[in-house]
Amino acid sequence: MNDRLYIFDTTLRDGEQSPGASMTAAEKIRIARQLEKLKVDIIEAGFPAASPGDSDAVKMVAKEIRESRICGLARANPGDVEKAAEAVKGANAPRIHTFIATSPIHMKAKLRMSPEDVLEKAVQAVRQARDSVDDVEFSAEDAGRSDEDFLCRVFEAVIDAGARTVNIPDTVGYTMPHQFGDLFARLMERIPNSDKAVFSVHCHNDLGVAVANSLAAVQGGARQVECTINGLGERAGNASLEEVVMAVRTRQDVFSCDTQIDTTQILPASRMVSSITGFPVQPNKAIVGANAFAHEAGIHQDGVLKQRDTYEIMRAEDVGWSANQIVLGKHSGRTAFRDRMSALNIEFGSEAELNAAFGRFKELADKKHEIFDDDLQVLAGEGASQEEPEAIRFIGLKTTSETGGVPVAELSLEYEGETCSSRAEGDGLVDAAFKAVEAVVPGARNLVLYSVNAITAGSDSQGEVSVRLQEDGRIVNGQGADTDIVVASVKAYINGVNKLQVSPQRFNPQSGETI
Ligand code: KIV
Ligand code: ZN
Repeated sequence: MNDRLYIFDTTLRDGEQSPGASMTAAEKIRIARQLEKLKVDIIEAGFPAASPGDSDAVKMVAKEIRESRICGLARANPGDVEKAAEAVKGANAPRIHTFIATSPIHMKAKLRMSPEDVLEKAVQAVRQARDSVDDVEFSAEDAGRSDEDFLCRVFEAVIDAGARTVNIPDTVGYTMPHQFGDLFARLMERIPNSDKAVFSVHCHNDLGVAVANSLAAVQGGARQVECTINGLGERAGNASLEEVVMAVRTRQDVFSCDTQIDTTQILPASRMVSSITGFPVQPNKAIVGANAFAHEAGIHQDGVLKQRDTYEIMRAEDVGWSANQIVLGKHSGRTAFRDRMSALNIEFGSEAELNAAFGRFKELADKKHEIFDDDLQVLAGEGASQEEPEAIRFIGLKTTSETGGVPVAELSLEYEGETCSSRAEGDGLVDAAFKAVEAVVPGARNLVLYSVNAITAGSDSQGEVSVRLQEDGRIVNGQGADTDIVVASVKAYINGVNKLQVSPQRFNPQSGETI
């Protein structure tokens, strides 16, 4: 049995399909670089037929990333396959991933096609993709609810047509682990040319079993798992990469395969995806949640101190948790700053970028005397967002509030090159500050989510604020960080409004909806 398990990361495609998780091309490249450090085998960089912007983002990732294979998604039609081929052609190792639904409900209600027509389209798309690249993957969308005999026919035909990977998705998160694992074993047994392709699994988490289903599929013979960082993805999300990888790595007594993931890069990847998308990680999330390795109960601490594996089945440092030491302070110089950033794998493209980041670091160190690695990660993220030209920039904020009084925010912004001021009252300082932004940049936007997280311990910690804004059916997330959480909130709000001004409508390749 093949002992290599391939990790196919779809954070930039299925993850990005989650409403509010859209990313700019610069953000996609940052994540792709981190995925490359993590040593994922395949990065699904996007759905090029969605828009010229999506296609350009896939092209940029394809050009930038040299170690991982770069994949573009295409529905099984000539136009999509052509656009995917064009977008991935600059990659060192390009892949086209084409799909069509095979379940009775999808074929009848969504595609309005007969099973024979679906089979023919699948084969044609794979053939066309093979004309451009050697590495073609085919997915039978909603395989979890498809007829098994039909799946056998479709997979046999697409493997004959040149598909090297066949993916079996549980698109709606419906199957149960024992059923899904058995399905893989039976399909591999029944399909005569199954030895000519890698069998892949792709699970959604609607019933909370995406990781369990993926692991059951691996037990059944799958050798590629499609997953996302932090389990980001449509609805309840996709199988989480960190959980799949660590389950297989930790239980080598159970699995007869392993990945080549550099697990120490897991936490930086999780932090990056969370801060770029504004989807926070719940504290009790396995592997990457703040409590995942915290042994709070006295009895556990005692046991862990005597012998750590009494309660710990993995080592925190193996997934990138290091003791969150104070690393820099107000008196640290440029060299110390650059060395620490480089230890965190944060490199600067030019002296100007380093100087700008060092300036932000000095500002922060004036407010907060002890600077931790997590503060530096956020600082790097702020730099990346400043690479995009922004119509609105924060200048300053004065707030007044007292018990029983009306909170007031006085705000200065730069808007399209002009300095603008506004004053607003509100139900609390955050509300007043958001109204002050609205007074300068009016719009019909709704705030659908607001959350604050402390980046480090201590009351002088920076607060990282995420907001989700909705306008004309479009949803974006904005982020901001500061030691003053009202300022962090305004920065997050402005970041969201800036994104609404530039981000185009997005097209979902599966539902066909535009958001
Ligand atoms: O969930 C799904 O079926 C997909 C396919 C496009 C692979 O994301
Ligand atoms: Zn999916």
